[in-house]
Amino acid sequence: MIPRVSQAKRAAGRRAAEYVIDGMNVGLGTGSTIFYTLERLAERVEKEHLSIRGIPTSEDTERKALDMGIPLTSFAEVDSLDLTIDGADEIDPSFHMIKGGGGALLREKIVAAASQREVIVVDRSKLVDRLGLKFLLPIEIVPFARHNVTRWLEHLEAQPSLRMHAEGETYLTDNGNEILDCAFPGGIADPAELERRLAGIPGIVENGLFVDLCHVLVIGDESGEVEVREKGR
Ligand code: A5P
Repeated sequence: MIPRVSQAKRAAGRRAAEYVIDGMNVGLGTGSTIFYTLERLAERVEKEHLSIRGIPTSEDTERKALDMGIPLTSFAEVDSLDLTIDGADEIDPSFHMIKGGGGALLREKIVAAASQREVIVVDRSKLVDRLGLKFLLPIEIVPFARHNVTRWLEHLEAQPSLRMHAEGETYLTDNGNEILDCAFPGGIADPAELERRLAGIPGIVENGLFVDLCHVLVIGDESGEVEVREKGR
């Protein structure tokens, strides 16, 4: 039997796959909710002969998409994407998000920025009033700069900790970088301002704040019901 939270993820993930239409170039996000989007897209490719090309945001998604028979492409062949479907760790009422729990924030932001439309799939537990109260903000850094960046972040009142594997080794992203997961006591009051400040710190490759990058939010419930919200409506 599928756990209840997975029912919610499945409902949202599968519904979002319906936004894809024939001929589209599609960004493919990362995570357990997106798994269900990939599953539904693969069904549509097979049954409806949907002609699409995907750009995956992680090696994990690339492997899954290839295993499922979803055709892939790259930014060497296309310069923009019609649509991206991705997950989120937290999303606030303005549709600002924390992403990167799965470590794929850098490629996810590159793909989001290249997309005309971003559809985000979540279970209802990801909805928050203020970012950063429940989930740590992931920041991808060049290993050489770890100690400098840590000091900069502490000036911003962040409490960074280096992401590790359970076995005790340092976690490395698909890009060979490290991640500092940052607590912000009191949460993140102004995500856009914090994102600007983080972008100015040498050694930070990318941060997990996604500001103004979500257009459509698909929320799954444990009952299997789905709610869709559009930005600005
Ligand atoms: C990957 O780095 C993240 O940004 C994911 O999109 C996010 O963690 C959502 O994951 P789940 O769908 O597994 O909750």
